Amino acid sequence: METALLRVDECTELHPPSIELAEPLFRLINAQRAYLRHWLEWVDGAHGYEDIRKMVQDAMRFRAGGQRCTFIVLFRGEVAGSAGFVRIDRAHRRGELGYWLSQSLQGQGIMTRCCRVLAGFAFRELKLNRIIIRTPRHNLRSQGIPRRLGFTHEGTLRQDNHLRGHFYDVELYSLLKEDVERGG
Ligand SMILES: CC(C)(COP(=O)(O)OP(=O)(O)OC[C@H]1O[C@@H](n2cnc3c(N)ncnc32)[C@H](O)[C@@H]1OP(=O)(O)O)[C@@H](O)C(=O)NCCC(=O)NCCS
Repeated sequence: METALLRVDECTELHPPSIELAEPLFRLINAQRAYLRHWLEWVDGAHGYEDIRKMVQDAMRFRAGGQRCTFIVLFRGEVAGSAGFVRIDRAHRRGELGYWLSQSLQGQGIMTRCCRVLAGFAFRELKLNRIIIRTPRHNLRSQGIPRRLGFTHEGTLRQDNHLRGHFYDVELYSLLKEDVERGG
């Protein structure tokens, strides 16, 4: 699937994964490793540039196959994080939204705006019917995003997440195409 860059606001763009962005992406992840590893299980497995380059290549391949559709977040032209559909189920037309943002840019609504654009894109262009966000119960910043965007809290998945030797409960949120059409 070929997807163009998505413009979020005057400072923020969602760029399709590309090999030229692997180096700045690696530098950002490496600089914030101690923070990010608390929330993202893949960080501990991404030791060097080669691991990130491979992740970007996987993102490109899975995007081409329609199983994923992730983007690199650019803020004022600099790599600032990532957001998009980390799992897409074509048969049921549903997708799972995942995201992370540079710690220094948090608290400004950037990721909420990215996810609003991604939800519109998913319903319109990817023809999805249902978007889910799964977030650990104790990740309150992450839960702020589905709440601000009018997702429905469907419930708690008990010990659904395994991170650094512990199981965590996960909150499940969803947004349907009809929720948006109803103006919900
Ligand atoms: C999850 C994550 C992206 C959320 O970052 P964030 O900065 O809180 O999210 P946003 O960019 O949407 O910003 C929302 C914050 O900006 C504030 N804000 C300021 N202006 C705003 C605006 N115009 N619109 C919305 N929010 C605004 C909000 O009040 C909120 O701050 P608060 O939580 O202190 O109330 C970030 O914490 C992160 O990357 N965490 C590590 C990775 C992670 O946990 N990923 C999710 C795994 S499930």
